[in-house]
Amino acid sequence: MKAIPQTSSLDSTLALLHEGYAFISNRCDELGTDIFQSRLMLRPVVCMRGEEAARLFYGADGVTRVGAMPWTVLRLLQDKDSVQQLDGEAHRRRKAMFIDIAMDGAAVAALLERFRQHWLVHFERRKEDCDLREAANLILTKASADWIGIPPSRRDDVKLARRLALMIDRTGRPGPAAWLALVSRRRLERWLVTIVTALRDGSLEVAEGCALRRISLDYRDADGQPMSEEAAAVELLNLLRPIAAISRWVAFVGLALARNPQWRERFGQGQDDDIEGFVEEVRRLYPFFPFVGARLARSQDWLGYSLPEGSWLLLDLYGTTHDPRLFPSPTNFSPERGLTWRDLDFRFIPQGGGRPESSHRCPGEKITVEILKETVKLLCGILPLRITPVNADVPLSIIPASPVPAIRVGPDRAGPRSSA
Ligand code: HEM
Repeated sequence: MKAIPQTSSLDSTLALLHEGYAFISNRCDELGTDIFQSRLMLRPVVCMRGEEAARLFYGADGVTRVGAMPWTVLRLLQDKDSVQQLDGEAHRRRKAMFIDIAMDGAAVAALLERFRQHWLVHFERRKEDCDLREAANLILTKASADWIGIPPSRRDDVKLARRLALMIDRTGRPGPAAWLALVSRRRLERWLVTIVTALRDGSLEVAEGCALRRISLDYRDADGQPMSEEAAAVELLNLLRPIAAISRWVAFVGLALARNPQWRERFGQGQDDDIEGFVEEVRRLYPFFPFVGARLARSQDWLGYSLPEGSWLLLDLYGTTHDPRLFPSPTNFSPERGLTWRDLDFRFIPQGGGRPESSHRCPGEKITVEILKETVKLLCGILPLRITPVNADVPLSIIPASPVPAIRVGPDRAGPRSSA
């Protein structure tokens, strides 16, 4: 067996906070490897990148997500009762429910319709510029809450949008910033528990087939039991939070359109064939999840390295989608690459790799891609908006990343070509 290369420093936590998305790839490049050992928060960790590493994370048995994230990140993103913390048959069953809810063509079309309507209401009569990410976060919150089936009388959309955004914004920041977001998340969970309880005791009625009903009333675990109210609230948040989070990529779509006016012009003229390639390239190029964690429930031999049971592993999602061996000239924006989530491969992995039904790959990729395609159509054709600035930067040291300064949109008095 080969020895796993090691970093020279005792602990790399400060380097990770400093280097952000580039942390794993910087060390892989320095050591000439796709795997190395280090310590984070004084805990031994094995960092990996590339197609074979993704195959281990999303294709092998005995690789669990339990115990693989610091607890603040776990609580903000998934929580202990969520599908991501399940393994084996329990995971497959819960995951099948997510796939039914989030990957069904008619269901995705219904969400898109709500997204379009809320977008048009938001922007049609607006006279002033606004922050694209903030606006999209509110629009997506309204659209997803409608789609899930949460009655408008039981929601405060502005507050809900703020709380959902906070959970994502604060994942990369340990300490008091994350604690505040945790308090905010706890409030959301309590609010969702009251809705699930009202549905179960008959004091609330919602439409057949909506996600709220399917999670709270219809779903049964392998032993025939429904989810607890708390678990149902966690899974409802597992739809609300990530759908609102697509707003971060909406901002990057805005930046990509502003930087590439030739594409904007094509889409403005109704040449829609390449929209999917365009938004898939946005998902590849612009950062979101830097890496995912896993723990080995049993030892594994991986490409000649022995990984003992209990090992804590990190898979470099950002580094893999920027690896020049997999994506030539990886810093170039090239929609012609023709990438698509439908290939279910282990290379293009911004939301995980492999098959979603049998692994922890994200069940929300279809929704994400369709929302981003609709964003392009809205921004370029249906209701053209002016996008500024063209020269925003994307600092990789801040997780999660955003354009700096923020992308703004406003009434386009000179027509669709004016991105300045
Ligand atoms: C905003 C864009 C999104 C990004 C960047 C993203 C990213 C990811 C990633 C990297 C994973 C894999 C985690 C792992 O391997 O442990 C994941 C899992 C998951 N995502 Fe997404 N996601 C997004 C949108 C969505 C949407 C729209 C939904 C809901 C419809 C969703 C629901 C989930 C769920 C429930 C899981 C856990 C799956 C499992 O453990 O089997 N995500 N996501």
